[in-house]
Amino acid sequence: MDKIIIEGGHNLKGVVRISGSKNAALPVLFSTLLTDDKCLIANVPDLKDIDATLELLEFFGKKVKRVKDTIEISGKIASVIAPYELIKRMRASFLVSGPLLARFKKARVALPGGCAIGVRPVDIHLEGFSKLGADVKVEKGYVVMDSRNLKPAYLHLRFPSVGATENMMMTASLIDGRTVIHNVAHEPEIVDLADFLSKLGVKIQGAGTDTVTVHGRNKLHGACHRVIPDRIETGTYLIAGAISGGNIVVDDCIPEDVKTVISKLICAGFKVKRENNSIHITGGRGNKIKPVNVTTETYPGFPTDLQAQWMALMCIADGRSVVRENIFENRFLHVGELQRFGAKLRIKGDSVIIEGKSKLSSAPVMVSDLRAGAALVLAGLVAEGKTVISRVYHLDRGYEHLEKKLQKLGAKIHRISD
Ligand code: UD1
Repeated sequence: MDKIIIEGGHNLKGVVRISGSKNAALPVLFSTLLTDDKCLIANVPDLKDIDATLELLEFFGKKVKRVKDTIEISGKIASVIAPYELIKRMRASFLVSGPLLARFKKARVALPGGCAIGVRPVDIHLEGFSKLGADVKVEKGYVVMDSRNLKPAYLHLRFPSVGATENMMMTASLIDGRTVIHNVAHEPEIVDLADFLSKLGVKIQGAGTDTVTVHGRNKLHGACHRVIPDRIETGTYLIAGAISGGNIVVDDCIPEDVKTVISKLICAGFKVKRENNSIHITGGRGNKIKPVNVTTETYPGFPTDLQAQWMALMCIADGRSVVRENIFENRFLHVGELQRFGAKLRIKGDSVIIEGKSKLSSAPVMVSDLRAGAALVLAGLVAEGKTVISRVYHLDRGYEHLEKKLQKLGAKIHRISD
C-alpha cells in the first residue's frame, strides 16, 4: 500500500489549478444512463471514484471512452441489477437507482451500507421513489423497485440530502409531466446536474433554491457538458496556503462557491482576494492565526467536506476554537490522528474543542476517510520533521494529482509504495 511522506515547514508559493468537481461529475455520469445517445462529459477529474463510476456504467452495458479529461459514453443498457461488489466500493453508486428505475420501471440496487463518517441511510431516496409510483422493498441487502406506472408528484424531502435530490431529479426527468421537489439541496453540484439534465432535453427550474420543478419527458437525447470546478478541492488548497504561511493563487475555480470558507479565512486573519475565476491567499506564518469557530451546514453554509481541513488549521491558531459537525454523526475520526501531531483537541458531543498551539510535530498517521486524509496532509505541511501518512488510497478517491500539485507549490511531499 502507498504512503505519503511530507517534510513540513515549507511555505507554499505559486499557482494551483483546480480540477473538475468529483461530486458534480458523479451524478452527471450516472445521468448518462437516462439516454442511449452519445454524451461527452469534459473536465472529469482522474480519480478512483470516477474509475469506479465508469466501471459501473460499463457493467450496465455502456461504451466508455476516455481521452484526457473527457469521457464519451454511449450505448444501450443491458442490466437493471447493480450488484453489491460494485456498489460497496463507493456510496455514491446508489445514484444508479434513479436512472435505472426511470428507464426500466424496475431496478435492483445493493444498499450501500454505512461508512467511516456515519450510518448514511437512504430512506429519503426510497420515500421519494415510492411517491413517484415505485413499489419499493428491501430484500437481502438490495433495494428492489418495481413500477407499472411512474407518475409525476409533489415531493417533500425530510432533509435536503444532496444524493436524494439528485436521484429524484434524475428519475423525474424521464417521467412525463411536472414533478415538484421541495426542501432540496442547494449545492452547486445540484445546479450543475440540472444544467446537464436540461441539455438532455428536460426543462428544470429552481436548481439552487429550495424547490426544483422538473418537466420530465419520456425520451431524452445525448449532450455535451463541462463539469464545474471542485469547490472542496478549492477550499482545501486555500487552507493549504493558509496553514503553510504561503502566498498562492487557486486558479480555475468558482470563488462564489467557497464564499463561506473565504469569509472564515478572512476572520482568521488571512488576506484573500477574489478574481473572476481565481483566489489569491496570503498571510499566516509569522502572523498569528486567529481562532475561528465553524459549524458545518448545508450549502451555502460551511461544508462538512472541509471540516477536517479547517480543524487542522485551527490546531495552529492563537487560542481556542470550536468546530461543530451538523451533517454527519461520526465525522471526527481525524481528531485522534491530529493529536498524534501534538495538537490539543477534545471531542464534546457534536463538537471538537481545539486549543491552538504554535507548533505541530511530525508523526506517522493513518487516513480514515477522504477529507480526514486531506486534514492530515495539511497538518504534515506545517509539522516539524517528516510525516508518514498511510492508507492514502482514500485520498486518491477525491484529490487529483495531489502530490504533483503540492510539489509545484513548493511542498516537500512524495509517495512511496511498500
Ligand atoms: C454528498 C457528498 C458528500 C458530502 C455530503 C454532504 C457526493 C458524492 N457526496 O453526500 O461529499 O459530504 O453530500 O454535503 O456528492 N441522510 C439520511 N437519509 C437519506 C440521505 C441522507 O438520513 O436518505 C442523511 C445522511 O446520513 C447525512 C445527511 O443526510 O447525515 C446528509 O447526507 P447527503 O446530503 O445525502 O450526503 P450524500 O449525498 O451522501
